[in-house]
Amino acid sequence: MLGVRVRRTNAKVLRKKLACAGMLDKSHAIIDEHEDVMIPVLSKPPPDLLREYVAKVVDCDFPGRKTMRDPIDEIRDIATIPEGLKPLLPDKWEKLGDVAIIKLDPRLDRYESKVAGAYASVLGLKSVLKDVAGISGQFRTPTTKLLLGTDTVTTHVENGVKYRFDAGKIMFSSGNMEERIRMANVVCDGEVVVDMFAGIGYFSLPLAVYQKPRKIVACEINPVAHRYLVENVKLNHVERRVEPFLGDNRDLPGKDFADRVIMGYVKTTHEFLPVAMRLLRDGGIVHYHETCPNELLPVRPIQRIVDHLHGGRAEILMFKVIKSYAPGVSHVVVDARIFRPS
Ligand SMILES: C[S@@+](CC[C@H](N)C(=O)[O-])C[C@H]1O[C@@H](n2cnc3c(N)ncnc32)[C@H](O)[C@@H]1O
Repeated sequence: MLGVRVRRTNAKVLRKKLACAGMLDKSHAIIDEHEDVMIPVLSKPPPDLLREYVAKVVDCDFPGRKTMRDPIDEIRDIATIPEGLKPLLPDKWEKLGDVAIIKLDPRLDRYESKVAGAYASVLGLKSVLKDVAGISGQFRTPTTKLLLGTDTVTTHVENGVKYRFDAGKIMFSSGNMEERIRMANVVCDGEVVVDMFAGIGYFSLPLAVYQKPRKIVACEINPVAHRYLVENVKLNHVERRVEPFLGDNRDLPGKDFADRVIMGYVKTTHEFLPVAMRLLRDGGIVHYHETCPNELLPVRPIQRIVDHLHGGRAEILMFKVIKSYAPGVSHVVVDARIFRPS
């Protein structure tokens, strides 16, 4: 049978890509072989995709998989709400450990605790939150309503990294998973890294768990997120690599010392480019994120970096769309090597 062999760190994203492309063989199970994972496929994936994820086509006997019912069908079956409203039950949710966040059509408002009960029982949740007003403010805080349960502190495991946080107070975007996994694969042996918008460790943790940086200064301004960052550093046993810093990244001391700066923020990221330029050493790399109207891509984010060079030079290493952020707006990342004026 046809399959693809890939390193464990790349397996989740590659499996998702294969599924989106209709190439995943869902009737057979994945084989786990220590460092590598074998994914059953229906046809040979394109060479570009294999190269991107350092994967190889293999011939292998995959075990059959029991056909599982789609959870939304079960949720619709057991929800004790009028039949006519069942098609409104969302077939997507954000499952973060044993807590989930769901978006509900206002027509389900009267039944929200019954709806939450159905999701909790099918998905095995201790608490269910309703997304009330998305994510907002400088701390990127979610606005939610607790529909079921009492405790919204959860441990979400992604790519072998543990993220503990309160899902009612701290955001966690599954849409950024690919970028978190990409960061786990950024080779940075011996480097000094500054994560300017560390949150609970979205990028610092995968980098520290899978690579060997000398030090990651993980800066976070929100005391609640910082507290979870400190906890997550211990939970993932990376205390020797990650130094959490509570405060505004504009107050980080020093200059010309960082081999790499991560700017995982949206909306106003460009306002912080002077800080990144101060921290970076000559030849250091910035991972610059921003949200940008699609018609201005890729020029605007690159131009914003160029505008902060003050006679220096930037080598653009990579540009990537991470996800759609809003209609016509994308969350993107640019990797650039920054050279000081000679
Ligand atoms: C929530 S994260 C962004 C999400 C992340 N990129 C991901 O993968 O999901 C951004 C963090 O930057 C923090 N932040 C905002 N302004 C800051 C500043 N000036 N200095 C340090 N941290 C800041 C926010 O509190 C927030 O926790």
